[in-house]
Amino acid sequence: MKRRSFIKGVAAAGAASLLPAGTAVSLLQGCEKPHSAAGWDFDELIDRSGTWSIKYGRAGEGSYAMWIADMDFRTDPAVSNALRERLERDVLGYTSTPDGFFDAIRGWVARQHQWEVPREWIGYAPGVITAINQAYLAFSRPGDRIIVQPPVYDHFRLYAERLGREVVDNPMLFDGGRYRMDFDGLERLIDGKTRLLVLCNPHNPCGILWDRQTLARLAEICERRGIIVISDEIHADLALYGRTHIPFCSVSDAAARIGLIFSGPTKAFNLAGLSGTAYCIIPDEQKRAKYLGALSAAKLSEPSIPTIVATIAAYTSGSGWLPALKDYLKGNIDCIMEFFARNDLGIRPIRPEASFLVWLDCRTLGLPQDQIMALFRDKAGVYLSNGASYGTGGEGFVRLNIGCPRSVLTSALESIGNTL
Ligand SMILES: Cc1ncc(COP(=O)(O)O)c(C=O)c1O
Repeated sequence: MKRRSFIKGVAAAGAASLLPAGTAVSLLQGCEKPHSAAGWDFDELIDRSGTWSIKYGRAGEGSYAMWIADMDFRTDPAVSNALRERLERDVLGYTSTPDGFFDAIRGWVARQHQWEVPREWIGYAPGVITAINQAYLAFSRPGDRIIVQPPVYDHFRLYAERLGREVVDNPMLFDGGRYRMDFDGLERLIDGKTRLLVLCNPHNPCGILWDRQTLARLAEICERRGIIVISDEIHADLALYGRTHIPFCSVSDAAARIGLIFSGPTKAFNLAGLSGTAYCIIPDEQKRAKYLGALSAAKLSEPSIPTIVATIAAYTSGSGWLPALKDYLKGNIDCIMEFFARNDLGIRPIRPEASFLVWLDCRTLGLPQDQIMALFRDKAGVYLSNGASYGTGGEGFVRLNIGCPRSVLTSALESIGNTL
């Protein structure tokens, strides 16, 4: 995409000029006031043209790209500086994984999630989804059943099906405000062919930070019924509002016996393009050996130099960038909540407890899903994620990525408001 059209796409500062005169929607002061970003400039419009961005490539010229889960911010400069320094040596030969990689993860989990993990529980993961696929291969066979709890991140299902596993749904219960796991449904669903359950913790797209009680109950049921739990914790470092993320395997002995955690710095530090940058925590020795064996058999056990350098920098620099980012995201979330509270457009946002994805309940619009999508994409010029792609319970919803400068967000909201 050319630079000019990119800038037009994000349109931020001059957004008002895109709007028809006499705009009907109103933005609250909360959306407009300067934020406190502790010295980091999250308002900057970064130019992603010429970077092969998937987000902008697919959204197309002139639209607000608010779908795939990366953010329109620079990464923590501590990470890019570390990468730059390493590259300056011009040495890119075969590289072993230093202890510092695992120590950085261990220290981060202890500080960030208040969980002390023995070094040997931690292993490399070649990207969260690739690692989950290796776990599918290690712990199930074609034809076995894997449970997901939709609406949920679509790649859990996609790759399980590609690997010939049967995916079964245990849809979450939704009362219009909060989501809960359906434990009775889960008990009914598990049969002799069920091997695995994939948990999204925190939950994408619904933004839920699962509480200890829920996780412990899930662990109790799954252990009793002979199910392994794969916990995808890639959004964990973005717990908001002072809440802490609770790692699945930390909640009980049962969870530690049956759980595999996959996580990494890519969401929180905006490193999605450094694919293969992730780790696992697997307390149970046999399960760990089985997963690591599958990884080794596929020759996926070795992190790249950028992965090692970026992980250590992100988790040890203590630059203060992440707390400032979270502050900024909270401001964006407040902005969107207030916007839809003030403007009665038939859309109800579910306030996320973590991360930068907002789940919008559009059911009151009373439109079929393809018309909802067309309304946002073709009329408002906002390219977002289709709720239906997250499975049962996703119809009537869309997912909006608010990881962007406030000015872009307000401009996109105004466009949505004027369209509706
Ligand atoms: C819940 C969840 N898991 C995994 C991923 C992708 O992780 P990776 O790029 O490490 O495979 C995403 C990306 O959006 C995600 O939201």
